[in-house]
Amino acid sequence: MAEDSEDVLHVVGGKPLNGTIKVRGAKNFVSKAMVAALLAPGVSVLKNVPEIRDVHVVSDLLRLHGVNVDVNGDKGIVTIDATNVQLADVADVDTLSGSSRIPILFSGPLLHRLGEAFIPQLGGCNIGGRPIDFHLETLRKLGANVDKEHQDGIHITAPNGLHGAKIHLPYPSVGATEQTLLAAVLAEGRTELSGAAIEPEIMDLVAVLQKMGAIISVDVDRTFRVEGVKELKGYTHTSLTDRIEAASWASAALATHGDIFVKGATQPEMMTFLNVFRKIGGEFDITDKGIRFWHPGGDLKSVALETDVHPGFMTDWQQPLVVALTQANGLSIVHETVYENRFGFTKPLVQMGATIQLYRECLGSLPCRFQQRNYKHSAVIFGPTPLEGRDIDVPDLRGGFSHLIAALTAKGPSDVRGISLIDRGYADFRGKLTALDAAID
Ligand code: EPU
Repeated sequence: MAEDSEDVLHVVGGKPLNGTIKVRGAKNFVSKAMVAALLAPGVSVLKNVPEIRDVHVVSDLLRLHGVNVDVNGDKGIVTIDATNVQLADVADVDTLSGSSRIPILFSGPLLHRLGEAFIPQLGGCNIGGRPIDFHLETLRKLGANVDKEHQDGIHITAPNGLHGAKIHLPYPSVGATEQTLLAAVLAEGRTELSGAAIEPEIMDLVAVLQKMGAIISVDVDRTFRVEGVKELKGYTHTSLTDRIEAASWASAALATHGDIFVKGATQPEMMTFLNVFRKIGGEFDITDKGIRFWHPGGDLKSVALETDVHPGFMTDWQQPLVVALTQANGLSIVHETVYENRFGFTKPLVQMGATIQLYRECLGSLPCRFQQRNYKHSAVIFGPTPLEGRDIDVPDLRGGFSHLIAALTAKGPSDVRGISLIDRGYADFRGKLTALDAAID
């Protein structure tokens, strides 16, 4: 098959990334806030929206349900008029099969507005099994009938409406927490959700829902309590910054000996990352406009860390940082406790010259869910090792960005193939790399 030249980035590495870039709203919030708009017959306005593919996938799915969506990419404003909602044609919905994980979150809003929902096969990165059992269990507890027999997706109905329930999540899943909130706000009566996730993107979704008229509180023990209301109205909201993208550029600055001012980056959501960045030897300066990240010269230090749910070290920060750790002095240990299979991206790094060994054991201070199971979910990274450029195939979103960082760090040329995957979560990354004076074409 002929290679799509648009989908390959030629990188000549070994040059520090220097300059200023701007990061807009969080991919993992914006897409959910767009779904929330479906709950209210009215107009919602979302600001600080990044130009990424996930926004277009959710827009398309909303439009297939009769919702008016206007995306102003330059201004970063999405306007959603969900006054009219209709059942989408199953064949049309199927065309979006495999494109994102967001469609499952349409379940609650569609059940409230239409009494039924058809959810296509989900996409998203291949970093573990990524089951949706918690989502479906939550919907069942709230009174929905879930039919998984449909060959192309899941058909869900709620002929008697949704009713508040007591729900406990076996693991603090971000998506299942959002699923429950989006379904419970208009359910009749009270819902208690214990064992929930409290990521900043979830709390921003709660802020949106509160603006819409919902009643949601959260206890110190990560229990959400929702008092169902009869109706909601549209909202106007500015998204929090994408802390994953900000940390990705910070890691790129560290790995390439660079100096990047990330406009828009904010401290509170990044505190855990900033601590680790400092321990490794990276410098940062926090201002009202953003955060400057740089390599101060000298040796970087190795570190031991575990990924975890908030306020722990995000799993999505892990992949870009591992590339920087290949340049740190000594043995670093990374224990991945959120996804069982998120180290596949290290193989090309090893081929580029990195020394990374994967282990099935929990090499962190606490055993995780993947203990005694056959998953290589701990990594030991020995550095510093020079990296050599080579051709790389992008495996997934964050792994792909990590490969890009590796190519920019490496001596010599690399062809990074399949870069359109990176467009899912990194707005205009080619333009940003050019602004940082990277040698790419
Ligand atoms: N899980 C289950 N059953 C479920 C749901 C989740 O076992 O029904 C497990 C998963 O397999 C995983 C763990 O729970 O091992 C955590 O998954 P979670 O549901 O929290 O992840 P998600 O909602 O599918 C979101 C982000 C991910 C991010 C995670 C964790 C979006 C669209 N995706 O995924 O982002 O890694 O939360 O913070 O919000 C990315 O941006 O690259 C990305 C993968």
